[in-house]
Amino acid sequence: MRILIKNAFLVRPEGVEKGDLLTEDRRISRLGGTIDAPADKVIDAEGCYVFPGFIDTHTHFDLEVGSTVTADDFPSGTRAALLGGTTTVLDFATQERGMTLMDAYRKWQNKAKGCSCNYGFHMAMSEWNEARIAEIPLMIENGVTSFKMYMVYDNMRLSDGVIYEAIQRLAREDCVIGIHCENDDIIKSRVRELKAAGKTASRYHAISRPNLVEADGVGRLMDAAYLAGGPAWVVHLSTKEGLDIARRARERGQEVYLETCPQYLVLEEAMYDAPDGAKFVMSPPLRSRADQEALLQAMTTGEIDWIGTDHCSFTMAQKAAGQDDFSKTPNGGAGVQNRAEIVYTRAVKGGYIDLPAMAELLSTRAAKLFGMYPKKGALLPGSDADIVVFDPNAPHTIHAATNLHRCDNSPYEGYEAAGKTRDVILNGVLAVENGTILATGLGEYVKRDRCGRYRK
Ligand code: URP
Ligand code: ZN
Repeated sequence: MRILIKNAFLVRPEGVEKGDLLTEDRRISRLGGTIDAPADKVIDAEGCYVFPGFIDTHTHFDLEVGSTVTADDFPSGTRAALLGGTTTVLDFATQERGMTLMDAYRKWQNKAKGCSCNYGFHMAMSEWNEARIAEIPLMIENGVTSFKMYMVYDNMRLSDGVIYEAIQRLAREDCVIGIHCENDDIIKSRVRELKAAGKTASRYHAISRPNLVEADGVGRLMDAAYLAGGPAWVVHLSTKEGLDIARRARERGQEVYLETCPQYLVLEEAMYDAPDGAKFVMSPPLRSRADQEALLQAMTTGEIDWIGTDHCSFTMAQKAAGQDDFSKTPNGGAGVQNRAEIVYTRAVKGGYIDLPAMAELLSTRAAKLFGMYPKKGALLPGSDADIVVFDPNAPHTIHAATNLHRCDNSPYEGYEAAGKTRDVILNGVLAVENGTILATGLGEYVKRDRCGRYRK
């Protein structure tokens, strides 16, 4: 199968250049200048940008949270991802207590059958002991080279000592571990205080987890990583205070990777007061405009490494579990389809970043760190033919009803996006054309190499 993309603006690290691109079977074979070669399909990309397929570093599909399970499973979540230009998702396989890492890996492989975009796993660990540590080489053999630990959630929380040990042990393997940074003890006390005062509405979710709760977690992570001599990766950074602490860690020579999410760039705390405020209950919570501005500025300076969605969708009926007590609301929001259009609108059109930086934030840096570069994350001869044709002049309004995820709400409902993904090539096959999915179920497992620690 040969696909020829004509008249595109090719977005590459060195700049944006008008030219053509040819894929042959599963790879990019040529790009740049005019290409006149026979092809099975010719795409006229006049006026559009061509990016390497986007990589979403943070999804939670088919995740059981207490007695409820996310609205999106892998088939529905990856269809939405694909339509938004995401050709690879890295989902968090979760090792529940008492499970082996291999059990969790197999369970997630089973869940991921029928994916419409490519997929890999980070391994979220809830235990750290000899038996689990002994499984790490097996994870690496199976292409799982990144891990996660939580400072919160009773079923997942691990101590700072464990985080320190895990960073040290995994660094020896060139694996990284992402940490959900919040101070659980303070959150619990504040939740008790708020509930005792009858403050049970969704807005109190944010008040129970103020900026300093995240900053404290980021600070503890930075110190643990400093002492361990390994990399620190903050998942879903949301605050200026956390960013400042990470900056100081970099200044003292630390290897720090920072992920943020679209919700922390365009949504804000006041939204909890809406009648459907429960849909914004996620952790970390929505913040202020000043926090958004700090994160956007940090994208301008290259301090933010990549943007994942933290897609963790629940229906309004599921969210209603917290109608009399915000702390019972399942945490998370839907966003896997909307990442590129929001980042383009807010950050590129907003003047914070240019198109090569958008490619870095949505694809290239994730591919590098998570052991997929240059097969993924690059427009290079020989790279995988995972490609996005993005139309910058396609104004539209985001609605849950027109999103493809299986969730009746969207935190971005009503957001006016300036452009959108038009066509997607996945593994050399035209999978989305003019905003319509042509092929589902073509996603393949990405067995990743060890991490490419580009900030080491
Ligand atoms: O609220 C969120 N983000 N839920 C998903 C799990 C996590 O904390 O990443
Ligand atoms: Zn988290």
